[in-house]
Amino acid sequence: MSALLLDGERVAARVRAEVAGRVAALRARGVSVGLGTVLVGDDPASARYVAMKHEDCAEAGISSVHEHLPASATQADVEAAVSRLNADARVDAYLVQLPLPAGLDEERVLCAVDPAKDVDGLHPMNLGRLVMGRPGPLPCTPAGIVELLAAYDVAVEGRHVVVIGRGLTIGRPLALLLALKRRGCNAAVTVVHTGVDDLGELVRQGDIVVAAAGRAGLVTPDMVKPGAAVVSAGTSWEGRRLVPDVEESVAEVAAWITPRLGGVGPMTRAMLLRNTVLAAERGALGAASGAGSS
Ligand code: GUN
Repeated sequence: MSALLLDGERVAARVRAEVAGRVAALRARGVSVGLGTVLVGDDPASARYVAMKHEDCAEAGISSVHEHLPASATQADVEAAVSRLNADARVDAYLVQLPLPAGLDEERVLCAVDPAKDVDGLHPMNLGRLVMGRPGPLPCTPAGIVELLAAYDVAVEGRHVVVIGRGLTIGRPLALLLALKRRGCNAAVTVVHTGVDDLGELVRQGDIVVAAAGRAGLVTPDMVKPGAAVVSAGTSWEGRRLVPDVEESVAEVAAWITPRLGGVGPMTRAMLLRNTVLAAERGALGAASGAGSS
């Protein structure tokens, strides 16, 4: 093991403290901050993730509202929960935990979320803002990865980042974000996936590699340029074991690497809190300027 660990717990603690300060500043002005969550079904991992988000909120002084629907919930039931949260003045931002049970249309649900309350940054309007380089909520895992690399002074600007995976929550928005002309980004970005020929050859060209394919042990040491930074953002279940996309032995080749636990996960949760307080700050600003009043 020679790589330096990209300690997401440590950086996330700093972000959580920053968020708690901003929440306290809003409270001093009489503004409370609230996050909503919608969980459909009883998948234990999803339930655990949602519970952790509520614990994080409590620690940061953010109140939280939860809607738990049974696995038998219909599309109309889920969209009704979304409408309630859209209308709930206690909720500045919220998310519908993904994946939804089979048979439910995730895209329709995401489109029904009020873009101003979209803590995930996954509403088409917010994804469009990202494409255009306009301000808006950034998807939490991509934003967390950029923050983590910056915290360790890993050079991103002008470097070649290979993103493995093209999913909606990580790969696709991360590639857009990293290519933006802004501090900590401004990179040459290649998006690859498990359907690409000569995957190893392409990944080996990356100064930074982000694995978000959800394929256990996909990235092996021979695929990594010596001295690269390697971020493992994807996981998949092997029985009851959650296995990362990056093999542990990659640490022998890389200069920086995320730890098996405490890498990207805590950063995603911290960025969710930051997006929540940002939504509350925008709401408070709108209220102060009279926006929406007659
Ligand atoms: N499930 C796994 N990751 C995410 C995420 O970032 N947002 C939502 N809503 N669900 C998820």
